[in-house]
Amino acid sequence: MTIPTPTSEGLVALGGAAPAGLPDELTLARLAGEFFAALPGGGPSPAFARPEVPVQAPAQAPAQVQEIRLGDVSPRLSALAPATPVEATQQPLDRGAAAGRPAAPVFGVPEAYAAALPVVGTPPQAPAQVAPSTPYYFLGESGAASSSAALPLPDSRAENRVEPQSLGLPGEAELRGLLAEIAGARTPAEAPAAGHAKATNPGHFYFLDQADHPARNSHVPAQGPIQAGFDVQAVRRDFPILQERVNGKPLIWFDNAATTHKPRQVIERLAYFYEHENSNIHRAAHELAARATDAYEGARNKVARFLGAASSDEIIFVRGATEGINLIAKTWGWQNVGEGDEIIVSNLEHHANIVPWQQLAAAKGARLKVIPVDDSGQVLLDEYRKLLTPRTKIVSVTQVSNALGTVVPVREIVALAHQAGAVALVDGAQSVSHMRVNVQEIGADFFVFSGHKVFAPTGIGAVYGKKAILENMPPWQGGGNMIADVTFEKTLYHGAPARFEAGTGNIADAVGLGAAIDYVERIGMESIARYEHDLLVYATRGLLTVPGLKLIGTARDKASVLSFVLDGYRTDEVGRALNEEGIAVRSGHHCAQPILRRFGQETTVRPSLAFYNTCEEVDTLVAVLHRLARGKGRAR
Ligand code: ALA
Repeated sequence: MTIPTPTSEGLVALGGAAPAGLPDELTLARLAGEFFAALPGGGPSPAFARPEVPVQAPAQAPAQVQEIRLGDVSPRLSALAPATPVEATQQPLDRGAAAGRPAAPVFGVPEAYAAALPVVGTPPQAPAQVAPSTPYYFLGESGAASSSAALPLPDSRAENRVEPQSLGLPGEAELRGLLAEIAGARTPAEAPAAGHAKATNPGHFYFLDQADHPARNSHVPAQGPIQAGFDVQAVRRDFPILQERVNGKPLIWFDNAATTHKPRQVIERLAYFYEHENSNIHRAAHELAARATDAYEGARNKVARFLGAASSDEIIFVRGATEGINLIAKTWGWQNVGEGDEIIVSNLEHHANIVPWQQLAAAKGARLKVIPVDDSGQVLLDEYRKLLTPRTKIVSVTQVSNALGTVVPVREIVALAHQAGAVALVDGAQSVSHMRVNVQEIGADFFVFSGHKVFAPTGIGAVYGKKAILENMPPWQGGGNMIADVTFEKTLYHGAPARFEAGTGNIADAVGLGAAIDYVERIGMESIARYEHDLLVYATRGLLTVPGLKLIGTARDKASVLSFVLDGYRTDEVGRALNEEGIAVRSGHHCAQPILRRFGQETTVRPSLAFYNTCEEVDTLVAVLHRLARGKGRAR
């Protein structure tokens, strides 16, 4: 496939006549990104420059792309220099856009909030008290010797931060002028898109209509603290991999539903564990075993608090959501589901929340029933009510669809399951990174998630289970750590959670998960949800300007996923074309074939957002898609 070289046509297509002599839109998007990153508040700060973390030298961009490099001329200011007034070069998101008025500027919409107010994130919420009920005597005893006391987990950004200002750089005025001109020239919401009605009338995308009313999106806080200073550039500095270049272009990571990147705080916590704490846990009488056990059980406490569990005894460490659902199906399910019983899932489910139940149903002679969805991709609660019967043993649904982004009304689904006498499992693999979750508010009997989707390492995740249910569940795997006493005649098991953690677990990565939870809680889940909501609205408006692009999944309540197909292209072709521009998306069936087939698709392209993504990254994505749409027919 041939990808057309960027030209000034892009700007013409999006915003009318390109000012003579300007570089093309793709180049402008990129150099704007580099420019803002090079501002004193945007580049790597000496306070965070850790020589032990190598930053890969950027590769050279292809020669045919016109470039203006400002990054090299930015002065290196002291991180401790006093903050200076902000020059207002950006404007906040125009919330009147949905009402038909000119909308957001092209670049840095949510970032503009940060430009106005320098505070990073919000103070952590007062944590729910989770009693560290654990049989391990080290916990709480090591005091000052505890590893956590000495951890290098600074949050010095607020005091070290230097705000963007006018620097008098060569080319600065010109670039700011260009950006202002572009911002005035077009926005994704108003860009012409002949023959593509949705571009100007996205009215059936409810979450777009409700950009003014985030409270109507159940997971978005009505008065999130983003206006009080969510600073995406400060966040981005915490993620070393975001400095990577791919195919000569800055990496744009829009594959967050597949996995998220890790902040320095997590990477450094892993290194600290291996340098100062590494040991097996629970079973030795030496100092490092005490440190490792403290760190591991401390992470369990953090997971319990993060999920709003009543006790850390309700948290089982597993490899991830898939292993978690399998654990429940093969323990609780095996024990409680019999011939003629019913298991309910939704049409939205990831294969991980289908296959284990199919296996159980086949083994036991039970039935699998499926809650259908409407044409927006939301579950039909009335149809669900009809599926519930006295034979229903378990209802297992996702909280956020990995393929469409639908936010599912899990609280209602759980309540209805309980009314029918069933238990309920919620798959939080795609929700925990985007919104605050409280398992007690949801009422779920089980909840599972994967650490790697919430900025923690791969290979670690958790099962939440109500204590009374866990205590009555048989063990899953047998071996060390889960037993109280073993003879050749008989084994006595520990209670939960140790009963479900046979063998040596993924100790270091559990500790890394705890660090990731600390990280997102320090920023504030409400700030994250609010920022991502704005970004999702912005990205949706942008994608809707692309002729021939069809969004799959348009529910009223959505989170951070934009599944689409593009006329004239296979989804893998789009994925490859985006990769050539350094943009990572997933294309394929997303391990959720039934829901894609519900919409007549075998595969889609799936950009998925996280709180470190920016509007300018979205602009670059939209520009490449416009270029592809114009080149339709040439690509094959
Ligand atoms: N479940 C992951 C995804 O949706 C891998 O991409």
